[in-house]
Amino acid sequence: MLESNISLKPFNTFGVPAIASNYLKITQEHQLQELFDSHGFPAPNLTLGGGSNVLFTKNYSGCVIHIQIKGIQHFIEGSNIYVTAGGGEIWNDLVWYCVDRGFGGLENMALIPGTVGASPVQNIGAYGAELMSYFHSCRAFDKQNGEFVTFNNQQCKFSYRDSIFKTTYKDRFIITSVTYKLSLNHQINTSYGAINQELQKRGVSSPTIQDVAEVVSHIRVEKLPDPSTVGNAGSFFKNPIISREQHDQLKEKFQDLVSYQVDASQFKIAAGWLIEQCGYKGKTFGQVGVWKNQALVLVNQGQAKGIEIYQLSEEIAQSVYNKFNITLEREVNIL
Ligand code: FAD
Ligand code: EPU
Repeated sequence: MLESNISLKPFNTFGVPAIASNYLKITQEHQLQELFDSHGFPAPNLTLGGGSNVLFTKNYSGCVIHIQIKGIQHFIEGSNIYVTAGGGEIWNDLVWYCVDRGFGGLENMALIPGTVGASPVQNIGAYGAELMSYFHSCRAFDKQNGEFVTFNNQQCKFSYRDSIFKTTYKDRFIITSVTYKLSLNHQINTSYGAINQELQKRGVSSPTIQDVAEVVSHIRVEKLPDPSTVGNAGSFFKNPIISREQHDQLKEKFQDLVSYQVDASQFKIAAGWLIEQCGYKGKTFGQVGVWKNQALVLVNQGQAKGIEIYQLSEEIAQSVYNKFNITLEREVNIL
């Protein structure tokens, strides 16, 4: 049922106020087809999942289409497991559905907020794993032609925090379900960050996928603010990728620069380090601020408006550019 003048404050993890002119909850994929067939799609429209990667800077004068399609199924073929989940399933619930059954692959991405339907959009990733390694296919509704289409892994053109759904097909498809290809013979990956350290602390020498999911969840809770108490959307910016030449010049000037080699000619720079060097970490500016344990996370101190968070992000990006000659690109979708 189409509703009018709905508050989006409970539907975005920044917890900023915004009103949607129209709002529609979708619990079954056939509702999308019916909507298209009856009146054509309302325009403009915005597909919303958990609202954990959006920043509303103003009211939304269109129709918010809130995806709440549920259901998880799997089938096993040899040592491969194909798990299909509705676009509105909570990502972390899917992770634990898999962990509880011994299906390996998603455990390093435990506790990432948001929905299954959004997971391919920016090719979510954390703690040494990326969705693209486990994504098999997704089913999506084409708002332009009114039909369902299946995308395989290659067609999604995944790369770091990017996919075809953010570029060529931005705002065109609504992802209604995703199928992941997991394994019963999965090789556990504990190489990133503090995972090994935390396993050692717990006296775990042969970790299971459950141990990895638990440890990753623990590290995340320590480092990142919980959106239910402090509004945020995780990393506000992407980690920038720069040329080897620029990297080497910076490294000479800033010996403690935090960087990772991507390939022979490119390096990824820790944006959190860049922002910290500009003096923003843990700082508060009225109702907005920069998280004390992670400078890449901008926070709502309680009563922030979206535009104030956006303005802080502009100031930070300018400051990083002035000091390092690096342009930060936002990860969060600005509306
Ligand atoms: P939304 O915020 O609702 O939407 C995000 C974008 O996807 C929008 O452009 C929206 O239009 C589109 N979209 C949503 N659903 C669909 C759909 N069904 N079909 C088509 N388009 C859709 N991300 C990481 O990758 N790694 C992390 O470690 C990580 N940590 C985070 C920690 C915190 C505390 C928070 C708050 C966020 C974090 N994020 C992280 C970002 C966020 O969790 C992911 O981007 C997540 O996939 C967003 O899911 P969502 O359902 O909330 O999407
Ligand atoms: N660092 C600092 N200061 C800071 C933050 C980070 O110096 O305030 C440096 C440290 O050296 C640290 C390094 O940066 O070791 C990396 O930090 P971290 O492990 O926290 O990872 P990140 O690069 O800041 C990325 C993702 C996160 C993901 C983590 C863990 C991006 C934009 N962010 O953060 O994803 O959870 O790695 O894998 O790639 C998100 O996308 O919303 C998100 C939270």
